[in-house]
This record gives sequence, C-alpha cells and structure tokens, in this order.
Amino acid sequence: MTAIPGPLDATSMRTHLCGRVGTSDVGDSVRVCGWVAKRREHGEHLAFIDLRDHTGIVQCVVPGTVDVRSEYVIAVEGVVRPRPEGTANPELPTGEVELGECTVTVLASAEPPPFAVEDRVDVDETTRLRHRYVDLRRPRMQANLRLRAAVNGALRAAMDRQGFVEVETPLLWAPTPEGAREFVVPSRLHHGSSYVLPQSPQLAKQLLMVAGIDRYYQIARCLRDEDLRADRQFEFSQLDVEASFVNQDDVLAFVSEAVLDAAEAATGQRPGTIETMTWAEAIDRFGTDKPDLRFGMELVDLSPVFEGTGVKAFGAPCVRAIVLRGGATLTRSRLDTLTDRARTLGAKGLAWFRVVEGDDGTAGLDSPLDRFLSDGERSGLLAATAAGPGDLVLVVADEYRVACSVLGQLRVDLAGRPVSEGPYRYAWVVDFPMFDGVDASGNPVAAHHPFTMPHPDDLDRLESDPTSVRSQAYDLVLNGWELGSGSVRIHRGDIQSRVFAVLGITDEEAESRFGFLLGAFRYGAPPHAGFAVGIDRLTAIFAGEDSIREVIAFPKTQSGSDPMTGAPKALAPGTLADLGLRAVPAPARA
Ligand code: AMO
Repeated sequence: MTAIPGPLDATSMRTHLCGRVGTSDVGDSVRVCGWVAKRREHGEHLAFIDLRDHTGIVQCVVPGTVDVRSEYVIAVEGVVRPRPEGTANPELPTGEVELGECTVTVLASAEPPPFAVEDRVDVDETTRLRHRYVDLRRPRMQANLRLRAAVNGALRAAMDRQGFVEVETPLLWAPTPEGAREFVVPSRLHHGSSYVLPQSPQLAKQLLMVAGIDRYYQIARCLRDEDLRADRQFEFSQLDVEASFVNQDDVLAFVSEAVLDAAEAATGQRPGTIETMTWAEAIDRFGTDKPDLRFGMELVDLSPVFEGTGVKAFGAPCVRAIVLRGGATLTRSRLDTLTDRARTLGAKGLAWFRVVEGDDGTAGLDSPLDRFLSDGERSGLLAATAAGPGDLVLVVADEYRVACSVLGQLRVDLAGRPVSEGPYRYAWVVDFPMFDGVDASGNPVAAHHPFTMPHPDDLDRLESDPTSVRSQAYDLVLNGWELGSGSVRIHRGDIQSRVFAVLGITDEEAESRFGFLLGAFRYGAPPHAGFAVGIDRLTAIFAGEDSIREVIAFPKTQSGSDPMTGAPKALAPGTLADLGLRAVPAPARA
C-alpha cells in the first residue's frame, strides 16, 4: 500500500477518507471504508459503488458483480484514477477521480434504512429521532455536530486563554433558586429523599469563588423540566463562567471574546464589537428584552399626540404604535386576526389606521376610529410615525409594559425572520430590573435570582420602591433569541438580608434553601460576577437551524420523549422498591 496520507486520516483499516481522495492520489492504491450510499450495476461486468463516510462520497468501480446493498458497511481497496472523459461529476469534491479495479470486503450487512440518507428527504421528526443514528449520517447533521464541536472548542480555547480554569461541578445536587422545575433523582440509600439535577451550576460556581478559584468556566450540562420549544430542551449545555474581583464590564468583555471567537470559528467571520443597550431602552424601542435588531419597525410613542384625547380607546397611560410599511393592503379579516392576537397577548384591543392618499394628494387615514380623531391628532399621528400612503399604523393604548410588549410581539409576528437567517445582530442588554412584578402575596419576584446585586445607584430604594430598582444583571441577545444571561452577585451579608426581606424570604427559609451558600459566604466571599451562554442556541444559529434539536445528537421530542430508547419508561417493581417509591397512576388530563 502506498501514499498513507497522514496520521489523521489513516488508520490500520484505511488509508484515506472517502471525501479526501483526489487527483493528487492518481496512481496510488488506497483503502477506504464507509457505508454504501448507492450501487449501480453495468451489466454483469461492472458495478459502481458510491461509498460514503463523514467526509463525503467516492466512486468505486468493481469488476464483476458485488453483493452489497444500501448502508452496508464495507472496505474497498482500489487504485485512484481519473474518471473517463466526460464522466467527471462537478458536484462532488472527488468527482474527477474514481477508484478502479476495486475489491470489496463486507464489514457489516445492513437492513434497508428507514429513510434515505440524504439531506433532501422529508421525514417526520419522530421517525428521524427513532432512528437518530441513521439521521445523523446525513451530511447536514454531520456538519451540525462538527460545528457544535468547533463552537465548544473555540469557547474553551478563549476561556483558557483568558486564564479561566475548567472545573466540573456535581450533577447530583440540591435545589437551586432559579425558577425552573427540576428533575429529581430518588435516593436508594435515603428513602424519601432525592437529589436534584442542576438547572445550572449557579451555586456551585459561586462556592468556587469563595474557594479562591478566581476564574472558573465549564461547558456544563443543565437540566430543567420545562415545556419544550424550538429553543428549549430538558437537557442543554452552557458555557458557564464566574470570576472574582471583577465588575460587569469585565464579564461582558470575557464573554464577548469567547462568543466572537466561536462565531469566527463557526462562520469564518468575526463580528465587530457587540453593542450595549439598557433594558429600559430595549423595552422602549422594541417592546422586548430580546430585541431582534435585524430590522427596524421600532415602537413609536404616541402618548404626547393623544394627551387629553377625546378618543375613549386611547385614554390610557401609554399610547404606542408600530408602522408596517406597505401594510395598508392587509384585509379586514387579517386585521381582525391581528386584533385577536393583540388581545391574547394581553391588550384590551388594537387600533389600526391604513394610511391613504387623499384627493388633494395629502396623506389621510382609513380606520373605524378616524372620525373620532381631531385634526391635530391625525396630523400628529402621521408626523410621529412618519407613515405614508400604503402603510399601516397599529396602535395599542394601555399600561406602559403591556403596550410595549404587545407591540413588540406584533412587530416580530409581522416582520420577523427565522432566527438563523443572517446577518447576525448581537446585543448586550444591561440594567435589568431587580424584580419582575409581585407574586400572589404581594412580594416582589426576583427577575434573575435572589443573589443578584442591585444597581448601586438604586440601593437606597430597595425597600421603599423595589420595582423601580435596577439590578446588575445582563443578557446577551442574538437575532431575537436570548443567548445567555448573568449578573454581578451579592457577596455582602447585609445586602443579601435586605434582598431576602424584600422578596419575603424569611431567615429560616433562606437557611433551609441555600444555607450552604450563605454559610460559605461567612468565611470570606470575594466580589464576583458571572454569566452563562446557551451553547445549543448559539450553535443552532450558526448552523442555520431554527431549532436547537438539530444541533443536539439525541434530543427529546416536543412532548419530552425519546422515540429511540422509549424514555421516559415505567420503572420495574424491583427498582421502585429499592428506591422506596410507589407508582401512582397519572391523573386524567383535562
Ligand atoms: P439562564 O437561566 O438565563 O441563566 O440560562 C442561561 C442560558 O442558557 C440557555 N438555556 C437553555 N437552552 C436550551 N434549553 C433550555 N431549556 C434552556 N434554558 C436556558 C439560554 C439562556 O440564556 N445560572 C444563570 C447564569 C448566571 O447567572 O451566571 C443561568 O442559568 O441560552
């Protein structure tokens, strides 16, 4: 055997990878291994096999017949030669050559695959997941998993370079106060007690700061029992980061470096710096804390136009609008659907105005509400929105947060694009509020988690006006998806006690839920801050996928099951007994 191409490709079973055989190998004997992608017979004297491995396909010409079928695993030995004149295949990287005079060894036979191993096949997701090992053979899935590895590699390298230490934290853990429902693992040795699978390594990494690790990171598996969507799985991975003696800007710089490196590794292009906007600005301009900056259609403040208005529908603390360019063609039924949608999103209603060209050539409004508007309001609306003939103005009048969030969602409904479609528009959103409304007992609810440091300028209002207090929490957003979040943490006992008091968490409750963390803090906690980037979301966007399932080797279906293994499964009676558990029939679903 000649021309062993190098230690990476060659093993004791093969000299070349299929997709890497090329014109420079002409004349060499090679041995390739892989799966039969296609087999064609030319009479009794010649058989053609397209052999596939993860690098691509190479054509093998076998004298005589050969008993192999699709997806058989074979080894082929042959001599590389140019394809006969006129038969080169420009679509294939190996299309100029073929292996001639091949001998074939069957390494494993295969049943016909449940679906063709091609990117273009249209198969339902359950079938794909039931036979995920076949699905993953498709070039697109191969590329996705390799892209994911490249993203992980770049993130790791960036953190290593910045002096961060990779530390693994436990998967068998105790509850953490991050809001998601947790998966529990019953204990065999302690009947009636359970471990909890971590929603994130949040408390562990804070303990590592008390331990003096100084800069920690981990590609961490996180588990949350929440409803699954395109951007959510039970199991997912974070680039989890924490550092001591740092402020918010330091964390943003560390994480930006890692994410930009990953972007470069995945796409070949390094984005420029990431812009920063405050949470208040994001809500004001885009109606959401995860603004999609790929398009404009920003919210317009119409409150000054309708101050003291006689229009009943607009007698609310806040009147806001969005403009859909060219939207005047939307039909009445489409507008009714939009109004229903606005109501579902929490608005009392939605007012619409088609901008039309009047007889005198000036812009006018076509809307059931038009006749209630004063001339000043009409011209004020047109001036503030800069809407012209052919446009549609949608208006919501309500409390500030409701008006903004409803219009923010309609903006995305009407003009949004798939998350993975370029260009990539990143943003840091900073200065999140400390609390997110109040719970049923009137206590403010922590917007991030209860260890988030309040903004120093707002600390004196913590008790008197908690919902106006900003926190030192920040998110990273890409194309309308939340990629990650983090915060500066409270490391001082006095501030922590005040925050617990505002949240309605008693000393006893704090002690029983996270006493181990508070206890550790009493032994000397450095100021610290951190962040976590969702790797599945980041990779999906780079891979051009709109669901994270496409970049996870073995994801769960939307309903949380795994068609391949059958999980989740009933436990055998013996296992239940070992764990001290009794199965109770599921309650009938409403
Ligand atoms: P958070 O809960 O915001 O913060 O999570 C950080 C990021 O993790 C990703 N993510 C998910 N990805 C896929 N499926 C899910 N179910 C899922 N849930 C979250 C998102 C999200 O932005 N401990 C804090 C971080 C910190 O404060 O340091 C945390 O976990 O991309």
